[in-house]
Amino acid sequence: MYIRKFLKKITVGFYFIQRVIIQHFCKAWLNTILFLYNVPHGNVKTGGGIFRIRISRKGVLKIGDNVNFANKWEVGYPLKSYIRIKGSGVLTIGNNVGINSSLIFCDNSITIGNHVHIGGGCKVFDNDFHNMNYMDRRDPVLNGLTKTSPVVIEDDVFIGTSSIICKGVTIGARSIVAAGSVVTKSIPHDEMWGGNPAKFIKKINIQ
Ligand SMILES: CC(C)(COP(=O)(O)OP(=O)(O)OC[C@H]1O[C@@H](n2cnc3c(N)ncnc32)[C@H](O)[C@@H]1OP(=O)(O)O)[C@@H](O)C(=O)NCCC(=O)NCCS
Repeated sequence: MYIRKFLKKITVGFYFIQRVIIQHFCKAWLNTILFLYNVPHGNVKTGGGIFRIRISRKGVLKIGDNVNFANKWEVGYPLKSYIRIKGSGVLTIGNNVGINSSLIFCDNSITIGNHVHIGGGCKVFDNDFHNMNYMDRRDPVLNGLTKTSPVVIEDDVFIGTSSIICKGVTIGARSIVAAGSVVTKSIPHDEMWGGNPAKFIKKINIQ
């Protein structure tokens, strides 16, 4: 009994030390990448593995203060966060934002407000990746000419785990997207939506 408790303490301690070391290393790495890409940013956090960022020559990324890009974290386990900016895409992330092991792929414009929570394993796109015309899809160049439309996620939005936010969508302030939703239409402020495609569930934050 005593030995089991002792070994458990050692294991927990080992995990803790491992996590602290990895977190510091990943944060230093993230700051280096942001410096190399010349990204304006405040305090950022990450951990649980190298956080991937790829920005095209004309792409723009702006990150606010106190932004946490969790990797392999709790609900998001074992996924990592990845930001990809293509062409002249502009991705703006506000202050006090938490993005848990999610993918943001920007080819036009994605704006994330302040105090936004994006749950583990979400995907946010402002484009369709492939051409809608099957003949054009056969051509590698034309295939890449895809429809794009800006995405806006307003302040205090909470997006549940494994949700997909499609192009052209605005999610109004303080609204909630239920877990596993596919959002294809804009959501007004102070509402909960869910499902595939996401539909109105209820009004929230009514005083
Ligand atoms: C959205 C959520 C917060 C709603 O919780 P709630 O306010 O307690 O809502 P309820 O459970 O009372 O459900 C209200 C209605 O929404 C529906 N609903 C709840 N979750 C849903 C979902 N994921 N998809 C579709 N519909 C959903 C319920 O079936 C219910 O429908 P009904 O009124 O027809 O019976 C919760 O269901 C959820 O998705 N939690 C996951 C949180 C998460 O992913 N966190 C991220 C961690 S990284």
